[in-house]
Amino acid sequence: MAKHILLIIGGGIAAFKSLDLIRRLRERGHQVTPVLTRAGAEFVTPLSVSGLAAAKVYQDLFDLTDEAEMGHIELSRAADLVVVAPATADLMAKMAGGHANDLASTLLMATDKRVLIAPSMNVRMWEHAATRRNLATLQGDGILVVGPNEGDMACGEYGPGRMAEPMEIVAAIEAALTDGPLKGKHVLVTSGPTHEPIDPVRYIANRSSGAQGTAIARALLGLGAQVTFVTGPADVPPPHGVTVVPVQTAAQMQAAVRDALPADAAVFAAAVADWHVKGASDSKIKKDGKGLPKLTFAENPDILAQVSGLREGRPKLVVGFAAETDDVIANATAKRKRKGCDWIVANDVSPATGIMGGSENDVTLITADGSEDWPRMGKDAVAARLAQRLADALG
Ligand code: C5P
Repeated sequence: MAKHILLIIGGGIAAFKSLDLIRRLRERGHQVTPVLTRAGAEFVTPLSVSGLAAAKVYQDLFDLTDEAEMGHIELSRAADLVVVAPATADLMAKMAGGHANDLASTLLMATDKRVLIAPSMNVRMWEHAATRRNLATLQGDGILVVGPNEGDMACGEYGPGRMAEPMEIVAAIEAALTDGPLKGKHVLVTSGPTHEPIDPVRYIANRSSGAQGTAIARALLGLGAQVTFVTGPADVPPPHGVTVVPVQTAAQMQAAVRDALPADAAVFAAAVADWHVKGASDSKIKKDGKGLPKLTFAENPDILAQVSGLREGRPKLVVGFAAETDDVIANATAKRKRKGCDWIVANDVSPATGIMGGSENDVTLITADGSEDWPRMGKDAVAARLAQRLADALG
């Protein structure tokens, strides 16, 4: 599946990883046409970029030679996919605002191909309200996003903002180029547990490995969907190629879900804690011999019910999960009605089933038409079957 990628390299410290990205893409047989922004050229040289790409590097909108060889409109359309890596806060703002004042922004405005961005910036810049707004606008416009990851940053700070690794970007590029039945659809998946702090070192949580949610995200990706993966602290790593939004608490998950909409479908596989500790302590609660601490609980928002009840912008298909230990089908059927979702994937998580934390699942799909018992199978197989059903439903 050799494809042609137009790679726009923005001006961020992560630009050095884009050199490796070019190598990885070429190793896999893809053709890369590089575009270097003025700021990008401060971080990597045109010589290294064109050398690795074995292609001319485009830099200037008003370069007459380029216009004679290939106009910017043509350049923006010759590729199968446009990739921006690193996508700086400034490039994202330009894209969201529709600017076209240099070669990169003009190409992004003129292209008729899908665009994938790999954001990279300081954590504060990533979390800034303006970047949040721009990201929502871009996702609403159908721009695909991979990363950023959380970790140490070149500027010495820690948090989300590191550009996705080259192989993660390659996976997202290949997923974007896959002609699956969910191509062009945005699906939101929640996964993992939430951690609700008692104090800075203690928390309450539901048991959840995140294995089923992760498998679902991977299966959806395999059918060509653009997946936003909102995950609590899970045991298994998120799949490559999805947009990962890591959260800790239910309140953060609720905000992340809101930011990720609109979506064509949403699958709520997260084991969200029902309660959080009201007035969690900012400092560690001490064993001071004056008796046991008194915890007061408050209810968490029901994210699934809220999204199911949206009057505007409700995903066409909303799928919930029901992990039950008794009367699985009756409880799950009631839950589908109560929450207002379209489907419920019900499973028996009694310890004897070995499902919790295991590799298999035994589910019943509950829809408006009744219930459907699926045979016990691997979590990947459950995910593949669910993703296919979802693709059929979205048509
Ligand atoms: O915890 P409960 O059995 O109500 O969970 C059923 C479904 O609702 C699951 O899909 C879960 O992800 C979702 N849920 C949610 N927000 C909550 C509680 C559950 O989205 N606060």
